[in-house]
Amino acid sequence: MPAALSHDATTGTWLLTTPSTSYALRVDGQGVPRHVHWGGPLTLADVASLPPAGAGPRSSFDGRPATSEELTVDGADRYGPPALRVRFADGTRALTWQADGHEQPAPGTLLLHFRDPHYPLRTTLGYRVHPDTDVIERWTELTHTGIASDPDDTPGDDILALRADSATLSLPPREDYRLGHAVGQWAAETQLRRTSLPYGETVLTSRTGTTSHRAQPWTILDAGDATEEHGQVWSAALAWSGSWQITLQRAPDNQLSLNLGAGHDAVTVTLRPGETHTTPPVLLLHVAEGGFGALSRAWHRHLRAQVLPHPQETRPVLYNSWEATGFGVTLDNQRQLASLAAGLGVELFVMDDGWFGARRDDHAGLGDWTPYPGAFPDGLRPLADEVHRLGMAFGLWVEPEMVNPDSDLYRAHPDWVLHFPHRPRTELRHQLVLNFARPDVAAWAFDRLTRLVADNDVDYLKWDMNRPFSEAGWPDEPSGRGDRLWFDHVRGYHTLVDRLRAAHPRLRIEACSGGGGRVDPAVLARTDQVWISDNTDAADRLVIQHGYAQLYPVRTMAAWVTDVPNQQTGRSIPLRFRFHSAMSGVLGIGGDLTRWRPQELKEAEQLVAEYKTVRHLVQHGELFRLRPPGDLQSLTAVQYLAPDAAEAAVFAWLPQPRFGLAPAPLRLAGLPRDAHYRDLRSGRVHSGAALRERGLDLDLPHEDWASTVVHLVRI
Ligand code: DGJ
Repeated sequence: MPAALSHDATTGTWLLTTPSTSYALRVDGQGVPRHVHWGGPLTLADVASLPPAGAGPRSSFDGRPATSEELTVDGADRYGPPALRVRFADGTRALTWQADGHEQPAPGTLLLHFRDPHYPLRTTLGYRVHPDTDVIERWTELTHTGIASDPDDTPGDDILALRADSATLSLPPREDYRLGHAVGQWAAETQLRRTSLPYGETVLTSRTGTTSHRAQPWTILDAGDATEEHGQVWSAALAWSGSWQITLQRAPDNQLSLNLGAGHDAVTVTLRPGETHTTPPVLLLHVAEGGFGALSRAWHRHLRAQVLPHPQETRPVLYNSWEATGFGVTLDNQRQLASLAAGLGVELFVMDDGWFGARRDDHAGLGDWTPYPGAFPDGLRPLADEVHRLGMAFGLWVEPEMVNPDSDLYRAHPDWVLHFPHRPRTELRHQLVLNFARPDVAAWAFDRLTRLVADNDVDYLKWDMNRPFSEAGWPDEPSGRGDRLWFDHVRGYHTLVDRLRAAHPRLRIEACSGGGGRVDPAVLARTDQVWISDNTDAADRLVIQHGYAQLYPVRTMAAWVTDVPNQQTGRSIPLRFRFHSAMSGVLGIGGDLTRWRPQELKEAEQLVAEYKTVRHLVQHGELFRLRPPGDLQSLTAVQYLAPDAAEAAVFAWLPQPRFGLAPAPLRLAGLPRDAHYRDLRSGRVHSGAALRERGLDLDLPHEDWASTVVHLVRI
């Protein structure tokens, strides 16, 4: 069924239809936007006759259920967490809905307008459906409709939004709910957890100014009965790269609602007359069957089709200098690494931190984006030219939002950083955050970066951000609203990336924030791949990658092979396993190639070549998680299937086999039963049915850290 909007004027019901799901709401007789349905497909007649969520008799003590409104506002008989909490100039906090018409400004887009009957606030609920995906977008616009110049205009006073979420979402009543989400910390990001959702309120949040290492702004919800392959699942993700909050409320009467929005608990929005605040979008996705696996594949399809800037491109094999040379980059050592990398089949050479200003360690130089003359006496051009001559693209590390106090930039502009008066400026990694909400800072950054890219023929930037906010103040903000920076720094970052891309259409960008500290759908919309963790231990990576790819496409998931013992974990894992782990994402190499033995370089060259034979499946295929990462004695396996099922690549890892036993045959997924596939490694031919029912013999070597890649081609 194509995506569509339909309306039943008699009941005020709207139906949003996606290819395989339905979402419905109703503007009731009091002008309140009530939630009706989010789930499997229903007709307009079905939803028009359904009661709104949370309807029914209720004691005077319980108040209106949090599930009942499309955006839970503060006030009246509502005692749940508000998604919209405003305070008007006279101190009134309660918001009253009054319907004020609707618009359909573009096919698939619905705007429902509401105004407060007394105060000058217009609230608009935005909805968008797409013809080819089940993802629905929702957002909210708040407009102060007062006129500042009217002398008697009490409505002209500021309106303070103490909380301005993008949406409230309500699930259908179920006896149980389970929450899937990602937890983490630096070098241990995106660890998937599934827990029975407690009754009461559960808050997932970031207060760092970034999406953060600790949590991801998405949730996966089911009734406790879904599996990787079966069951209904609901999911939502916030497209926002700053602080955020998701508040879930589970009530004993089987009601579950969640509010999602930008900004954590302390962040407010002040609206002046005439101003509009538009929240970032929340993306909603329901799968009616097929469980967590189908959910991930649907997310990947949507993000590829609607969000990634160049989804059709195949990401090149990358080399990055960070773990090899640290801050000690020189023209000579980079040339040497570039030459070895090119010999392995690397296609993109990235020089990481250390090439600029007085940067010899992390104490100095950030902000001074000119080459360090001691290492690059003739600038970066000789290295860029050499890398290009070797047939590779040239990439450079930058951290534009940061400054070291020991830098020419800070000495010239100490007021450009986030700070409060009368408070020390907390340094983390000896650096401070530049205020990208300031137009002068944003203009400076664009000027520096655009010249850097143009002057040095840079094909690729790794854009890092190595600390969270602190003292997030802007004392000389012209309107006295320094809090704006929680939103406007993030918008400044987004705008700068967008401007750079527009000015340099061939430029590609890697998102990084000390690994995976800033990744979300808004980052994916403007970058090409993500450095998802500073932890390059091949076994830990399988866990981090498992969590990352729950929502985000593997095509964006950069993974490097580095040296052993691993810099983060001290663990020594054989080269082949390290490669196979990284080859299940966007392959990169980050080891010190000058120390690799000739047989290691040879094996690496073969594995890079092997990656190139399957990467179209890894990067553009459909992901099936055959075995999630467990303990080291368990098999982990993923399968990538071509969209037309003509080929599949299967990756399997078994760190510590038990009792010397081979694992049971691995049952594959998604293959047409009547198709036949040749295993290019063994030459054996199997039917799709046999691979699904009996499974594939992995023929793993009898040793620790066993791993394999199997390439199946339909015959
Ligand atoms: C943090 C990144 O995650 C690393 O890969 C590296 O680029 C360092 N920053 C450089 O300072």
